[in-house]
Amino acid sequence: MSVRRINAAILFSLLLLLSSCSGQASEQQQVLRVQSGQNIRLLTTTDTHYLSPRLTDNGPAFSKFMAAGDGKQLAYSDEMLDALEFDIGIQRPAAVIISGDLTNNGEKASHQDLAEHLRAIEQHTGTQIYVIPGNHDVMNPWARRFKGERQIPVDSVTPRSFRSIYSEFGYGEALLRDNDSLSYLAAPSEDLWLLMLDTSQYSSNKKLGHPQLDGQLTAATLGWIGRCSRLAAESGAQIVAVMHHSLQDHSDFLQEGFTLNNNKRTADVLMRNGITMVFSGHIHFQDIRESDQGVYDIAGSALSVYPHQYGIVDYTPVSRTLEYNTSKLNVELWARAAGSSNPDLLNFTAYSEEAFRKLSADRSFVRLSGDSSYADYTQEQLRAMADVVGRLNEIYFAGNADKEIVAVTALEGFRLWHAAPYSGLKSYVLRMSELEQKDNNHFVTTLPLR
Ligand SMILES: [Fe+2]
Repeated sequence: MSVRRINAAILFSLLLLLSSCSGQASEQQQVLRVQSGQNIRLLTTTDTHYLSPRLTDNGPAFSKFMAAGDGKQLAYSDEMLDALEFDIGIQRPAAVIISGDLTNNGEKASHQDLAEHLRAIEQHTGTQIYVIPGNHDVMNPWARRFKGERQIPVDSVTPRSFRSIYSEFGYGEALLRDNDSLSYLAAPSEDLWLLMLDTSQYSSNKKLGHPQLDGQLTAATLGWIGRCSRLAAESGAQIVAVMHHSLQDHSDFLQEGFTLNNNKRTADVLMRNGITMVFSGHIHFQDIRESDQGVYDIAGSALSVYPHQYGIVDYTPVSRTLEYNTSKLNVELWARAAGSSNPDLLNFTAYSEEAFRKLSADRSFVRLSGDSSYADYTQEQLRAMADVVGRLNEIYFAGNADKEIVAVTALEGFRLWHAAPYSGLKSYVLRMSELEQKDNNHFVTTLPLR
């Protein structure tokens, strides 16, 4: 056994001993860590935006909220979590990562009920779940329940209560916790550790009256990353980082508020500490980019939004190879197994795709219909053009433009856009159609020697 492996063995023995001393023996001993040398599979997901069914009567206020939204299937929050448990039973990851925006708008009831789901997933499948907050999750002034025609304010959570609610999902199992944020270091396996970075800024939310969109890491947290890295190096473990905000720009349109404010400095710190892989969320786009410093950032699609996909990460320690592939949440399979008769659930992919496309197509149609430059176009032509916007959004959220863009640019609606008068929407359509076509659903890298 190498010195590094001996250090790892000592560290894990020490953890068990410490947990016994603190009276948490049973919980810690149930955490089955993957042994050194063994391959490990992770399931990475993000932006679950869970809304507790206790908070909605699915009435007019809720319908209005959904119609003004971005395609989250909030009415099927419970069902998507049940389907995730079903998929985890099939994929058999050793650990599941949720990189923030766990809830719709930080409602305490949503956090509590989501934690119940996560508890059931751990108990039924034997996987370990690790979470961090996103910008929607903590001290959110937008926390609401929906009753009849009204949205009624409800309790959100403080950082302390967030840590308490999710103590079984990272915070109580951490090797190290940051004093300056809800960041922590966790070890689902001896060879691969998780640096769970809290990039959200919630202390000004009350004053702002809304959840602060942008994120950053403080100097103290960036310094704490060095401590994590040294501990991992002493134990011969690799680290991958997880954060809500993007390390790298993932879109030509959405950068401010989405990319970490101090992303370059953070990438420098990560690279200096031998951390070359980041899993993020927030932007709801599936997109893979490399920073100038050489750190890869995989932004995952939101689980709550079409195409409802997550990442499967397979790490092989002997070669330090990390492979990433997306996989679709199989709501249909779960619905059949659960004996559901709900047609939305039994045909969830088609149902959600149509709803997602219709949302942006309908908004585009309203915009075009009110634009005098487009007064000569028939309703059918405007509908065809609006549908192209819906299709473009769909393939960019799924990250599969490399495979689907040709079919969209071949549509009559796209030809109409080419010949159309200038508008902001036309510029958006043409720029979307010209973005780099690359594979965002599959990725292989080798983690550096430490
Ligand atoms: Fe977010």
